[in-house]
Order: sequence, then structure tokens, then C-alpha cells
Amino acid sequence: MTDKLVIFDTTLRDGEQSPGASMTRDEKLRIARQLERLKVDVIEAGFAASSNGDFECIQAIAKHIKDSTVCSLSRANDRDISRAADALQGASRARIHTFIATSPVHMEKKLRMTPAQVLEQAKLAVRFARNRVADVEFSAEDAYRSEEDFLCRVIEAAINEGATTINVPDTVGYAIPELYGNFIRSLRQRVPNSDKAIWSVHCHNDLGMAVANSLAGVKIGGARQVECTINGLGERAGNCSLEEVVMAIRTRRDYFDLDVGVDASQILAASRMVSQTTGFVVQPNKAIVGANAFAHTAGIHQDGIMKARDTYEIMRAEDVGWSANKMILGKLSGRNAFKQRLQELGVQMDSEAEVNLAFAKFKDLADRKSEIFDEDILALVSEESVQHGSDRYGFVSLSQHSETGELPQATVVITMDGKEVSGQANGNGPVDASLKAIETNAKSGSEMVLYSVNAISGSTESQGEVTVRLQNSGRIVNGVGADPDIVVASAKAYISALNKLSSQVDRVAAQG
Ligand code: KIV
Ligand code: ZN
Repeated sequence: MTDKLVIFDTTLRDGEQSPGASMTRDEKLRIARQLERLKVDVIEAGFAASSNGDFECIQAIAKHIKDSTVCSLSRANDRDISRAADALQGASRARIHTFIATSPVHMEKKLRMTPAQVLEQAKLAVRFARNRVADVEFSAEDAYRSEEDFLCRVIEAAINEGATTINVPDTVGYAIPELYGNFIRSLRQRVPNSDKAIWSVHCHNDLGMAVANSLAGVKIGGARQVECTINGLGERAGNCSLEEVVMAIRTRRDYFDLDVGVDASQILAASRMVSQTTGFVVQPNKAIVGANAFAHTAGIHQDGIMKARDTYEIMRAEDVGWSANKMILGKLSGRNAFKQRLQELGVQMDSEAEVNLAFAKFKDLADRKSEIFDEDILALVSEESVQHGSDRYGFVSLSQHSETGELPQATVVITMDGKEVSGQANGNGPVDASLKAIETNAKSGSEMVLYSVNAISGSTESQGEVTVRLQNSGRIVNGVGADPDIVVASAKAYISALNKLSSQVDRVAAQG
């Protein structure tokens, strides 16, 4: 019988740890619904003890998600575990994921604990978690750089205490595929009760090998759970990419001989949603979900593809959702059609008033743009979901003048604490002038660390989607804005980043 590979998605936890990728409750819930449509087995929804905001996100996800297991991370202490269990209360399927570092450098320098203390704390944590839920995952943080004998003892103890999944992270992305695969295999052979738990791999991408390492952990090591994120989102160089792992297992079923429950046709929608929500743009040549992933431009390839697709194609674009990217609505589309499309896209609006507001924005966009694509709708609701009545800043209007040989000038009207204020500035270009005009009132003093523009649906008629990353007092946030006018999109993105800066609460870092 073919084994099943458990897909554990941690976009909303490890992915969100990426600087600037923090998401609101509504955004996280929308992504969780898409992950459920994607049929991932486990959704790691956050780290409940890190902040009240994260606790509430996990609560909301636990309440709404029925088909996937919902999981919260927790450090190996009673308080964290209790917070995780409380946030997960009412979930159809709940998992607590508790972890403690086991490598010499982490134990000595970060935890300041002896190996004996770490072993004891791991036991107590798993025991405590098992009293709250039946499904407990234990991770030995920085496992790959841990001393193997000690790691075997910790894992054996965790399984004895009732851990149902054992995760062996390569926390710093140091592993090499063959070595990591052998490491997992050796652990499984040496831990006497290893058959009582599912073994899991969790690889970071610092050397660009997170997917290769995870696959080696599966093939050589016999792991049956992969922890991954959409688009490989994550701190530093990111985590193992879900879409790449899933499609590797699917496409090379002859080699892996494993089943995955994921509905691959939902991959592209998930990728777009995560990228539009976080402002982390997907590179065009990214496998599976990059704009060029299925584009055959070289003449010799096109000729081959026309004769027989399998000359150059190992996967079909439509299998991962590319053909579902259809033009759907326009100026004449009514509220019902719009509402239905929102549902199909997995966008949940909490009230009719919210639908009305989004529909008004859609009509406004349809007046300026004849074809409205799914991406346009997602951009519109992403923007909607980051604007709240409680936000400090809001976009009202913008006018700008630029002419060859003249210094561009812009006037931008924004709301600030509920009052309309207007600012004027010159700049190197119209975008620069507009953002400086906003700063004349906002006076945030933030440093811009990234600015990027992306044409949402590929043509000059498309909406421009702008990402702005701001840094202020050690905090980094991303703002995203979309509009057919890229100067307006830039102003919206800047305002969205300012709002995040002024509202973001400090969190406890999971691995800090
Ligand atoms: O990378 C890591 O070690 C982690 C653990 C908390 C599982 O994310
Ligand atoms: Zn991690």
C-alpha cells in the first residue's frame, strides 16, 4: 500500500516570521480558508503565546476550519502550551506543536540550560500538552546541528510521553540533501520507539536546498510529514516551498511512491493570495507559480510543444491552477455575480455592508478597466482588508504633474486621525513626490527599504500592484496597494505600511 505524505503548512506561522510579512486576523483567516481548499493536512495558524493578536487569529481559524488540522506553536513551557490549547478550543482537529532547542550552541548560548534540563523540559512539555490534546508534535529546534546521541534520547523521551509527530528541523538551513536524509534515517533506526510517531522534516532555505533536503528526508530518511510554506515564504531565505514539494512528489510518483492529499489546482490561487497579502512578490522564474514557469518562448521549445506537449512539459499548467485564471467580471456584472466570485475565491466578508463597500470599489475599478481578473478582485479585497475604520491614515485623492525637464510635483490628500489633510511636495519622479507629500503630514521618519511595482495581469491596461517596505525603530512592515494608476497604487501602499507601523504590536519571537 502506498504511504501518505502529510503536508503541514506553516505559512501563517514560520512564513509570517519573515520581516514585513505580518498579517491581520482577516488576512490570516482568508489564507487559512484557501489552505483548506488546497486540502493541506495541517495548518500551523500561529504561535498563540506570542501576542494577543496571534491568539485571536488562531481562535478564529480554529473556529472556521473544518477539514484541516489546526495547529499552534508553543515553546516547551506550561504557559505557552496552555495558551495554545485555549486558542485551539473548539477546533475540529487540534494539534499542539511544542519545541525546544537541542543543539549545543542553542542550549548553551540561547537557553542557558544543560542537556539534562532540556531533556527534562521536553518530557514535561509533551506530557502537559498531551493532557490538553491528543495530537502533539514535538520539535527539536536546530536538530540537524545537535549531537546525535543526545537527540535520540530527547526524541525517545518525547515519544514515550505521547508525542505523535517528531519534527527534525534544519533550523539554519545548513543541511545537504544526502546527509540530511541519512540523518533522519539514522535517528529512526536508533530511537527504539520510532515507529510510534510520524517523522517530519522542516528545512530552511539558506543554501537554497530546503526542498531538496525535505525530499531527501522523505526518500532516504522515511519521513512522512513535510513542513512547508506557500511560495517558500519565511525568514531569511525562506522555508521549504509547498508547491515545489507537492509537485515533485506528484510528478515523480514513480520514484517517491507516495500519496499527497493536496488539491494541486488550488496552488496558484494560494500563491497569489499569499503574495498579494504579504507584498512578497513571486520571482518570474519561480518553479510552479512564477509567471514564466510554463512559458515556452524559445522557438525550438514552442515547436516541440506544438508537436507533442511532453517534449518539454513535465507538468500541465492547468493542473496547478493556471487555466483557472480566467477573465470573469466587467462593468455590467451585478452584485450577486461579484458576491459569488468572492465566495469562489474564498473571500469571506463578515457583513453585507462589507460586501457593499467592496462592490462599490469593484464598480469604480470596472469603470476604469474593462476586464476584471481574479487577481484584480483579490488585490481589491486585500486592500479592503487592510483598511479599517480604526486606521490612523486613509487615502483620499492625489494629483501630480510631471513633464520632461521639470521637477515633478504632487499634492496628496489623506485622512489622519479622522481629519482630512493635504500635503504638497516635489520629488525625483511622481511617485517620490507623492510619498514625500504624504510625509509632510505623517512625519513618520520611516526609512524605505524596498519599493516594487508589479503589473497584476501582465499588460499596461493592468492594475499596478505596489509593495512598499518601511523600517522604523527596528520594526519592518510591508504595505501593498493596487490601482490602474501606479502613482496612486504607490500612495496607497505607503499609507497601508504607515498604518501597519502605527498599529503593530510587539510579539515574543518564537526562536528568540
Ligand atoms: O525552524 C525551526 O526550527 C522552527 C521550529 C520552531 C519548528 O521553526
Ligand atoms: Zn522554521
